[in-house]
Amino acid sequence: MRILITGAQGQLGHALQQALSGEDLVLKDLPAFDLTRPDSEAQIVAARPSAILHVGAYTNVDGAEREPDRAMLVNAQGTTMVARAAATVNARLIYLSTDYVFDGTKSTPYREEDMPHPINVYGQSKREGEIAALAGCPNTLVVRTAWLYGYAGNNFVKTIMRLATEKPFLDVVGDQRGCPTNADDLALVLKDLVKTDLRGICHVTNTGDCTWHEFAEAIVNRMDLSIPVRPITTAQAGRLARRPAYSVLAPGRLAAVRALLPHWQDALARFMKEAPHPASC
Ligand SMILES: NC(=O)c1ccc[n+]([C@@H]2O[C@H](COP(=O)([O-])OP(=O)(O)OC[C@H]3O[C@@H](n4cnc5c(N)ncnc54)[C@H](OP(=O)(O)O)[C@@H]3O)[C@@H](O)[C@H]2O)c1
Repeated sequence: MRILITGAQGQLGHALQQALSGEDLVLKDLPAFDLTRPDSEAQIVAARPSAILHVGAYTNVDGAEREPDRAMLVNAQGTTMVARAAATVNARLIYLSTDYVFDGTKSTPYREEDMPHPINVYGQSKREGEIAALAGCPNTLVVRTAWLYGYAGNNFVKTIMRLATEKPFLDVVGDQRGCPTNADDLALVLKDLVKTDLRGICHVTNTGDCTWHEFAEAIVNRMDLSIPVRPITTAQAGRLARRPAYSVLAPGRLAAVRALLPHWQDALARFMKEAPHPASC
């Protein structure tokens, strides 16, 4: 099966390359493949994939507030082109989206049929991407995930592992709740989903939920360090982009096609066993 991956050099892209290593992969990423350039559509059509994992995106949540036009161009208009190319070659399209399409006002897990209402530019641009993907290609599945970490690139787990060896204490946001997700686990689900004909929207995260503070505490505990991890509020953190206070995703549709992912604590333990300790780098 020829599978084209956009954003192939990002953290999920790397995990997908490993999970799909037996397949005929076409890897696309900057600089040769640029979602802001019209030739990206022709590049996809020329490769004639039977499936596209559209992972490439503008993913800097605070950066999107500073350059909203670029975030929209990459995540919304870029996805319109990818969807058009997918439809042209009759490919299955899987578009990666985010828990940040929700506003966080619920206190029970968000289901696939809940109405999105993004509260920051990144979330808006990804929601526009969802609409473009679903409208532009008949065989589309939107996979929403959350709080992703993998071996490639920077992420929360790697940052906490590094800071825990450098600082006397850590202050971490304790009033946002979500689902940390291991990119390797997600990649295995995507490997399965690409071969189904499930369409529409599907939530995929590791099971269980926590706050960023609880997540950081779990990381530090696994490092056998005893530095204090103190909860702070979103207001105290003073980030540029607003973030949902509660963005736990309910894996409603996944349960019908495959086993749910392991608990986030189990996924974190596996990741940290393999990840190089920052002090030894
Ligand atoms: N990370 C999370 O916590 C999270 C949570 C929920 C959903 N998601 C979604 O999951 C997907 C994968 O996320 P990730 O964490 O793997 O992201 P990532 O590491 O930032 O990877 C995204 C990739 O897309 C590339 N890209 C950026 N702009 C592009 C453009 N104009 N044209 C072509 N490629 C471009 C990036 O290249 P450069 O690195 O050179 O910019 C990077 O290789 C994304 O769609 C994201 O929205 C992520």
